[in-house]
Amino acid sequence: MPEKPNAPATGRNQEVILQVLQDEFLDAKSVLEIGSGTGQHAVFFARELPHLVWQSSDRKINHDGIKAWIDDAGLENLLLPLALDVEDTEKLNATFDAVFSANTAHIMSFPAVKCMFRLVGSCLTEAGVFCLYGPFNQDGAFSSPSNEKFDASLKAQDGSMGIRDLEDLDALAEANGMTRVRLYAMPANNNIAVWQKDHNS
Ligand SMILES: C[S@@+](CC[C@H](N)C(=O)[O-])C[C@H]1O[C@@H](n2cnc3c(N)ncnc32)[C@H](O)[C@@H]1O
Repeated sequence: MPEKPNAPATGRNQEVILQVLQDEFLDAKSVLEIGSGTGQHAVFFARELPHLVWQSSDRKINHDGIKAWIDDAGLENLLLPLALDVEDTEKLNATFDAVFSANTAHIMSFPAVKCMFRLVGSCLTEAGVFCLYGPFNQDGAFSSPSNEKFDASLKAQDGSMGIRDLEDLDALAEANGMTRVRLYAMPANNNIAVWQKDHNS
């Protein structure tokens, strides 16, 4: 079996994220995770939220690691990863009551973030929610000096990466039939933004 990859940050943030998901996903039966990364969040949330089915996904390059975590966990409500690059996928053959994604919007280029919102808008059921965890800027300003440094380090690696403005994400959500309904403050200057699919959109 391939070695299980480890992203230490998931261990630090999963409990606080769970507290939000317990409320936001209370009535959800199916959740799509975009950019599952190592698969650690998928295992933790699927175990803690046994009332729903968690569909992991990521680009193929991460699948061996995600599968290693999933195989080891043996959870019936956690599905093997979909091969999902948001830039290559117009539409999915399934709908979901909720979508979760962590630390993806600042890694994806802005065109890819646009694709992610289009995909989420097309696969969420009516009144379904999209919970996006990560650092965001608000009113054109960084939320902390550490986020400003983080943004500079991302851009030094790849000019297309960077912390996104919440207002830009709200506009993408609106263009795809979703409205922001909540914003949770998280430790380490992160947030969870929650957009809800509009009725009849
Ligand atoms: C910083 S990692 C976050 C992983 C995990 N969600 C976490 O919080 O530990 C960013 C993730 O975004 C994924 N990603 C980047 N571009 C993507 C794209 N175009 N489509 C789907 N996933 C993408 C990467 O493969 C990676 O898993």
